[in-house]
Amino acid sequence: MNNLILAIDTSCDETSASVCSGRRVFSNVISSQISIHKKYGGVYPALAKRAHQERIDFVVKEALMRAKIKSTDNDLQQLDAIAVTYGPGLAIALEVGILKAKELAKVFSLPLIAVNHMEGHLYSTLGQNKNGLPNRKLAFPALCLLVSGGHTELVLMKNHGQYQVLGATLDDACGEALDKAAKILKLGYPGGPIIEKLAENYAKLPTTIKGKNESKYRLNLILKNKNDLNFSYSGLKTQFLYLTQKLDEKVFGTDLALLASVFQEAAFEQLIRKTSKAIEIYQPKTLLCGGGVIANKHLRNLLRALAKKNFLPIFFPPNKSLTTDNAAMIAIAAGYKLERKEFVKNPESLDRVPRLSL
Ligand code: KG4
Ligand code: ZN
Repeated sequence: MNNLILAIDTSCDETSASVCSGRRVFSNVISSQISIHKKYGGVYPALAKRAHQERIDFVVKEALMRAKIKSTDNDLQQLDAIAVTYGPGLAIALEVGILKAKELAKVFSLPLIAVNHMEGHLYSTLGQNKNGLPNRKLAFPALCLLVSGGHTELVLMKNHGQYQVLGATLDDACGEALDKAAKILKLGYPGGPIIEKLAENYAKLPTTIKGKNESKYRLNLILKNKNDLNFSYSGLKTQFLYLTQKLDEKVFGTDLALLASVFQEAAFEQLIRKTSKAIEIYQPKTLLCGGGVIANKHLRNLLRALAKKNFLPIFFPPNKSLTTDNAAMIAIAAGYKLERKEFVKNPESLDRVPRLSL
């Protein structure tokens, strides 16, 4: 196998390690910390660090084993490089992965590749199974919509490794806004999938019931920054808070489903509007969509319709484990860096960059 890479991602609340060869994923082990952070309604950094430290060795070993590589000296020589996320993310969480990657690179005399987590989400759309499927061809320039818990960005990719950020969120990220809306409705963490489920339930209701409720809750979708390609979610969140505060009791049933649906529609409306605008201006040849929120089926349908209208091929991560945080996307991005020989010059000095941008 050529260009075999072991990658590590500990940027937030998943401890992950993966072995890939180019775009082909041989293993992608993800140890989620959701159960640890749930009671805090968000990620608790010190606990995330400790969980990463406790799990990293097992996760790396498991990733090697599933890729049929034994953790012995001889077998590890099959690898061509070690890759690691060095930002953006939680500083003390990133640190754990970086330390482990440095150690492995040193012990096995392998080059070290540093990867931007958002570049990983972008490359997650090119993931393949062991047999090299799906084998989609990427045409440049590609427009990338990245929507996660920490980021909401539109990026123009002119070639591998060449990015121009066209727009980003001016305040909260889309995933963060969905998580906050779920918190306001006292629904739990992470909020995105819960809001999705409720909105799906609402969509399934008979039109007679929906018709009666449709205009009950409204959110103003007018953005201050309507002429650029940036996003903004803090206004939406505040409106939603006021809207729910006006309600006398705890909402449930149809009302709860409707509120989740109204918020989700509002959150996705600006993603579609700005992506549409970017397509118009930059005339890309491919649309790439990555990040945790892209797991949402309704959002995928809206994006598919937009791509179809513009005769654009659209790529999503091919499976769920490549959509939310994972190390396979880091290994895939690193594969292109390996081809360009973009190694960390002095591995000892590689440091975390929590606010790293593309
Ligand atoms: O990419 P990701 O796993 O981590 C970051 O890099 O931030 O994204 C996590 C975000 C969370 O805000 C979560 O609520 C959201 O992705 N998310 C979803 C869905 N699954 C995860 N949002 C909407 N619908 C989903 N199905
Ligand atoms: Zn992420």
